[in-house]
Amino acid sequence: MRLKGRNAIITGGGAGIGEAIVRAFAREGANVVIADLNPTTAQAIADDLNVDGKTISVVECDVSDSGSVEKAVGEAAEHLTSIDTLVNDAGWGRAGKLLDTTEEDWDRMIDINMKGAFLVSKHTLPYLLESGRGNIINMGSVAGVVGVRDRLAYCASKGGIISLTRAIALDYVDQGLRCNSISPGTVNTPWVDRMVAQFPDPEETRKSMVARQPMGRLGEPWEIAEAAVYLASTDSGFITGSNLMIDGGMTMQ
Ligand SMILES: NC(=O)c1ccc[n+]([C@@H]2O[C@H](COP(=O)([O-])OP(=O)(O)OC[C@H]3O[C@@H](n4cnc5c(N)ncnc54)[C@H](O)[C@@H]3O)[C@@H](O)[C@H]2O)c1
Repeated sequence: MRLKGRNAIITGGGAGIGEAIVRAFAREGANVVIADLNPTTAQAIADDLNVDGKTISVVECDVSDSGSVEKAVGEAAEHLTSIDTLVNDAGWGRAGKLLDTTEEDWDRMIDINMKGAFLVSKHTLPYLLESGRGNIINMGSVAGVVGVRDRLAYCASKGGIISLTRAIALDYVDQGLRCNSISPGTVNTPWVDRMVAQFPDPEETRKSMVARQPMGRLGEPWEIAEAAVYLASTDSGFITGSNLMIDGGMTMQ
């Protein structure tokens, strides 16, 4: 149990990669609060996991809204008593180039993907520092590292979160806090299903996503979750400010 006794907030833990992280953290002995816009699906995950003394709770949270974040972090602190780990996984994306990205879509991607990580980190920081072993894991993307066609605002938001990771890591390294990001390639999640469904030929779009993968397949949520366990554990104690690519080699060429 590599995370026994750790107390973690996981945003976006109600589906996809976040759900896989919640399940992996629970398996490794962490106490978890899932902070998600959709508390119903998150509660179903918590109910599934809350056996054998596991303590998984849910708070409703819109990471893009500072009032909602402040309330959710306060509730999470009551559930957990102390907080030493934060996973900023909540995210949202929509395809688009410069001319067909609306201002609303731009704002929503920046607000959820980038400002969300800023707000939740800011409100959780006092608890993380008080724990003496604070740890933040942000969800980046290959789109934050290389250009991905037709993902303009999403690329910008994920580039921002990778920079935010380094800034937080450097500012608080001397207070025992570590901050890293994980940048997945395309991963099989409900989001990818929704993204593919926006295109006129969803099956063809999915094939083209697979075709751009050197390994010839998409990633699976558990493959990202295992890296989050590593970054949250003392096994990675000498790693901070880094961005771990888990992309099946998508960015190696
Ligand atoms: N799936 C991929 O291919 C992929 C690739 C690279 C990076 N990522 C990143 O991984 C993260 C998770 O992606 P996913 O594919 O699992 O997504 P998903 O849509 O399957 O799940 C996202 C979860 O976040 C929650 N959420 C959305 N907006 C929220 C908000 N404003 N406040 C709180 N919770 C909110 C949703 O309710 C859901 O439970 C995102 O940050 C995404 O950018 C995904």
